[in-house]
Amino acid sequence: MSQSVEIVEVGPRDGLQNEPILLETKAKISLINLLSKCGFKRIEIGSFVSSKWVPQMADSGLVFDGITRNHKVSYAALVPNIFGYSLARKHKVDEIAIFCSASESFSKSNLNASIQESFSRFREVMSLAKTDSLRVRGYVSCVTDCPYEGKINPVVVSKVARQLSDLGCYEISLGETLGKGNPDQVEKMLINVLDEIPVNKIAAHFHDTNGQALKNIGVALDLGVRVFDSAVAGLGGCPFAPGSPGNVATESLLKYVEGKGYETGLDIEQVIKAANLARGICNI
Ligand code: HMG
Ligand code: MG
Repeated sequence: MSQSVEIVEVGPRDGLQNEPILLETKAKISLINLLSKCGFKRIEIGSFVSSKWVPQMADSGLVFDGITRNHKVSYAALVPNIFGYSLARKHKVDEIAIFCSASESFSKSNLNASIQESFSRFREVMSLAKTDSLRVRGYVSCVTDCPYEGKINPVVVSKVARQLSDLGCYEISLGETLGKGNPDQVEKMLINVLDEIPVNKIAAHFHDTNGQALKNIGVALDLGVRVFDSAVAGLGGCPFAPGSPGNVATESLLKYVEGKGYETGLDIEQVIKAANLARGICNI
């Protein structure tokens, strides 16, 4: 099994989408330019969603246009529908992510659609992406708990993840949106998902409400998962998941996995610089 772990930086999207104040575009660009020097292969830097729903991401086009691109980095954005897809193409994203949920109530609150309605939008997006040869990642939210429905059945998670994979997503990121899941829940959920999808197509995305993220990542590592999402300075949350705080902090994750002997290819000094800049920008 691989001795390297890839960390996908999602702070400029998942982190900044939840900031209480609207940040200046140039501050976001400075953060992304610094993150581009850390060694990440993938950085999620925006989303092409309704600005009425997520005003913090309304400048994603300007962000994509304004950054200094490192050709070794794939810059990604969330896209919920074909309208978002056309904007993403206009601003030259390197890859997109579609995002669904294992909970009907969360799907309704996040996308104003049932799970299956969201998939009919994704089919349209995927068809365009295939024509354009653009890589598409898929997220499943609420893989252990939902803010509205409580505990989520792992079988539902595996079915939704399988649907994303069958649609053509090259990787499925399992979102523990609330940070409430414990290692037992995460293990059960992953065992179900791994019955449906090979482990090399799985990533894990932990929020850190109850300080369980690193323990949960340990469980995922033991089951063979080697790609993890995180945000510098632990920025983050989801505007449609009340109480969901930051993603696991990239600098903590990096120290944790390297402490276990995995290589990440990241420069810890640069990551800490970026985390400090993120704290300054967000006043934390
Ligand atoms: P809707 O209101 O049902 O859509 O929203 P609509 O088609 O009726 O359109 C309403 C308005 O939005 C229209 O504008 C559209 O043009 C516009 P108006 O005519 O009223 O002026 N619109 C758009 N504008 C920009 N980009 C678009 C777009 N689409 C429509 N793509 C919609 C449906 C999906 C648009 C809305 O629900 C939405 O934007 N949701 C996004 C929610 C979101 O971004 N959530 C956070 C990310 S998910 C997350 O954080 C979880 C994750 O981190 C994993 C985890 O932790 O679990 C990934
Ligand atoms: Mg998230």
